Amino acid sequence: MSYITGIAHNEAITHDILVVGAGLAGSWAALAASKQGVNNIGVLSKLHPLRSHSGAAQGGIAAALNNVRPVAGTGPRGPLEAVPPGEEPPDSWELHMFDTIKGSDWLGDQDAIEIMVKEAPEIIYEYERMGCVFSRLKDGRIAQRRFGGHTVPRANYAADYTGHVLLHTIHEQALRQGVSFYSEWYCLDLIVEDNVCRGLVALDILTGKLHLMRARAVLFATGGYGRAWKITSNAAANTGDGVAIAYNAGVPLMDMEFVQFHPTGLYGKGILMSEACRGEGGYLLNSQGERFMERYAADKMELAPRDLVSRSEQREIDEGRGVGADRQGVFLDLRHLGAEKIMQRLPQVHELARDFTGVDIITDPVAIQPTAHYSMGGIPAGADCQVIADANNTPVVGFYAAGECACISVHGANRLGTNSLLDASLFGRRAGLAMAEFIKGGAALPPISGDPVARNQARLASYTNGAPGKEAESVAAVAAALKETMTRNVGVFRDGERLQIAQNEVQALQERFDRAQIMDKGSRFNTELLAAIETEHLLTFSEVIVASALARTESRGAHYRTDYTKRDDVQWLKHTLAHKNGADAPRLDYKDVTIFWDRYPPQERKY
Ligand code: FUM
Repeated sequence: MSYITGIAHNEAITHDILVVGAGLAGSWAALAASKQGVNNIGVLSKLHPLRSHSGAAQGGIAAALNNVRPVAGTGPRGPLEAVPPGEEPPDSWELHMFDTIKGSDWLGDQDAIEIMVKEAPEIIYEYERMGCVFSRLKDGRIAQRRFGGHTVPRANYAADYTGHVLLHTIHEQALRQGVSFYSEWYCLDLIVEDNVCRGLVALDILTGKLHLMRARAVLFATGGYGRAWKITSNAAANTGDGVAIAYNAGVPLMDMEFVQFHPTGLYGKGILMSEACRGEGGYLLNSQGERFMERYAADKMELAPRDLVSRSEQREIDEGRGVGADRQGVFLDLRHLGAEKIMQRLPQVHELARDFTGVDIITDPVAIQPTAHYSMGGIPAGADCQVIADANNTPVVGFYAAGECACISVHGANRLGTNSLLDASLFGRRAGLAMAEFIKGGAALPPISGDPVARNQARLASYTNGAPGKEAESVAAVAAALKETMTRNVGVFRDGERLQIAQNEVQALQERFDRAQIMDKGSRFNTELLAAIETEHLLTFSEVIVASALARTESRGAHYRTDYTKRDDVQWLKHTLAHKNGADAPRLDYKDVTIFWDRYPPQERKY
């Protein structure tokens, strides 16, 4: 058992490897590095590790296992059957690769995607060997279901608790391996000097003490940034801390304009109703009872990729065919699946709909709406999770990123469902292996200049003291106004005018936030202080999202501009790199997309 608690001294804490974030990516990294013989590994998490947001993923983890296929002649939504041993496999890594590239609207880096899809089956079997409780076919093989944008059923699942069971499995293994967990420790600052990462400053939330933490290698696996929107499937903790901290430390952020809106968030709440609902055959209906996807993706219907389905829902809503109190939703109808299938395959969805809206999905359709769900952008890193500082791929020595906070970029402009649990697990493991190699290659413990703890203490004191002589501003009011403007202006549909409004409002909110003051002056478990830090982070990366989106005058994947409705490969087949530019707007720079021109050249994206 290795939960570290109550460190009283103010000495620097030193590890060979420090991992920030205990979700799938962070825990896999710690486990893999430890298995390579690196013994001194610390994992920080602002939550108890088992509350990490990986656990909220529901529907599955992608890999071409070839256990299941559609029954011949029943069409794209017909029943599935087990593939008899020895028969032609319906799936392959090549098909998974093509689906992922097409889903990404050709912005995904194809070298990284190739690694991900080729290694995918092996990571599933590794989970299986660890004892992960996957749902099973009658013959004992892992069950698979359909998911949007995937040509064949390749979502391996555990009912609709897939992230939950994977997270428990990996955390258990990391504990068994002797990894040290700093539970409810908050990383405040990353120390990078001369392009070398030297450690970080962390707040022990329980005691209120700040600690300098030094390491030979640091991994950020801090999750996504969906909390900048009002309607989101993201946990309260998903405030983009890692991306904001890296950016403040001088690391650029890549493709931040690409934010995924999941089509089925519970109406008015955003809570995830898994895509598995549609994978199992659920319908989307407008106020007139029409399966409106016929108009937008006649072939794939409800199983088109998320960007397309969310846009289709939004069009129905905008054209007056919405449902719900303010007509901002559509219906998810599962009644025809029957009680047995719903309770066996979708028990969590059933419970969430009942507990949060009072709807029993066995007997009634449930209102849903697009919900901010996944951050395709983040800290730029290569396929070994080494963070880069610029478009020439110059490494930030000793700094790694994996999972949702990283942009590797395997999802490009739009992620396919079930590829995130895969990405987090697989690149988490790769990060662990890469860091172990770095350490074993003789990486030194880099020196640290100045007094980063004092600098961070001053930052925290500024929240407690406010701006002397000026009227105090409320953190909660600034956060609420930010979410309002991001929701209204940086949503499923965008345009130059709305993005410009968002840019002005984010700037004005940053100015208001300079006067923010908190009332709780205590040091132990000061949640008001945490909210202030998180709000600062939301403002920091929202500015980057808006600037990147305003500059990208095209529509690609999840970034859809009504004033530039076409994808423009001549101008925009490139990644955005946003660099911090003092107090000014970010400096934008661009980086080539890795494309295998002979195998997967850009095509028109139709479903
Ligand atoms: O819809 C879902 O179950 C979510 C899965 C994912 O985002 O990959």
